[in-house]
Order: sequence, then structure tokens, then C-alpha cells
Amino acid sequence: MTRILGISGSLRRDSHNTSLLRAAAEAAGPNGELELYDGLKEIPPFDEDDDVHPRPPSVARLNEAIKSADAVLFSTPEYNSSIPGQLKNAIDWVSRPVATNVLRNKPVAVVGASTGGFGAVWAQAELRKVLAALGARVLDIELPVPHAHTRFENGGLTDDEIRARLEETIESLADEAREREEQKAAV
Ligand SMILES: Cc1cc2nc3c(=O)[nH]c(=O)nc-3n(C[C@H](O)[C@H](O)[C@H](O)COP(=O)(O)O)c2cc1C
Repeated sequence: MTRILGISGSLRRDSHNTSLLRAAAEAAGPNGELELYDGLKEIPPFDEDDDVHPRPPSVARLNEAIKSADAVLFSTPEYNSSIPGQLKNAIDWVSRPVATNVLRNKPVAVVGASTGGFGAVWAQAELRKVLAALGARVLDIELPVPHAHTRFENGGLTDDEIRARLEETIESLADEAREREEQKAAV
């Protein structure tokens, strides 16, 4: 069973991106167990002067959650055509030290929802770029959820096509995580 950490780039309570990750958790079925990360808001602004040990507890907690997961699924909104600041800030913390950062070689996938017509495609592309720069194994998939306000009812996903794409994404993450384990075992 693949343990997947779900990180939503939106902090708001009724976030469509968080709802998308909840739908992914339901879609995971026997392929994986998806746990939602709930501590993004507590991460302080990155300041290199504060990047000393021990690190702020909220940062240490995120680091540990990523480290102990087999894979990470990000769902990001798009803010002004890019990644939300707090999500980028959290990744900047996690990226240090870059050679041994916990996202290195970690299978990751990016999905995203927006209320506009493009489904956060730019934010997804930028997030994939940032994750690749940290050495993550970024799945070559894009899952845009445009007009997100029309696809959930009481937080539940009502779009079967998107549910199917979520299932595929989880399956691909689980495959990538298995492959990584096999490669580690072979070394
Ligand atoms: C500061 C801000 C900037 C936004 N910029 C964009 C944008 O560039 N493209 C877009 O499609 N939607 C944009 N939106 C609308 C978001 O897609 C919408 O608020 C979405 O519901 C946010 O995701 P969430 O429901 O997970 O919080 C913006 C929203 C905010 C608050």
C-alpha cells in the first residue's frame, strides 16, 4: 500500500483544491492511502537566517511528513498566473539543503483547480518546474479542473471524468513509488 501525502496549496476552509485531494483520497482505493497535510498555514516566512537547527517545529513537521510518505500529490490553485505564495514558501523551506532535500527522488504529481476556464494550468506547470529543480520524480501529467465551483457539491466531487483521472494519477504515483523502492533495493 502506497502512502501518499496530499498537500493543498490553498489555505481556505472550503477550498476546491482541498476538496480535490479529498476526492483523490476516496479514489485511491486499494492502490494507496492518501493523508491530507493540514499544517501549511503555520509555516513561517522563509528567512535564510532562520534556516538553522533546530528548525521551526512547523517546518520540521512538514519535512518529516514528506520524508515518511512514499509519494506526494499536490493540488494547487493559481494565484495571478502562478503558485500561491505560501505553497512556494513551504517548498523553499523544504528545499534546504538542496542536495539532501526530502523531495529529492520522491515521486510527486501535481493537479489543480481554479474557478476560471483553464484549471490552474500555469500554476501546475510552475509547480512541476520547481519540484523538478529539487530533484523530485515529477510525473508527466497535468490534471486541470476548470470552473471548479461547478464540480463539487458540499465538498464532494460530482464529475466522474475528473474522478477517473484522479484514479489514474494515484495509480501512476503508486507505480512510480514501487519502482523507486525496487531501485533502492537493487543498490
Ligand atoms: C489572489 C488570487 C488570485 C487568483 N488568480 C487566478 C488566476 O491567475 N487564474 C485563475 O484561474 N484563477 C485565479 N484565482 C481564482 C482561483 O482560481 C479561485 O479563487 C479558486 O477557487 C482558488 O482555489 P481554492 O478553491 O482551492 O481556494 C485567483 C484567486 C485569488 C484569491
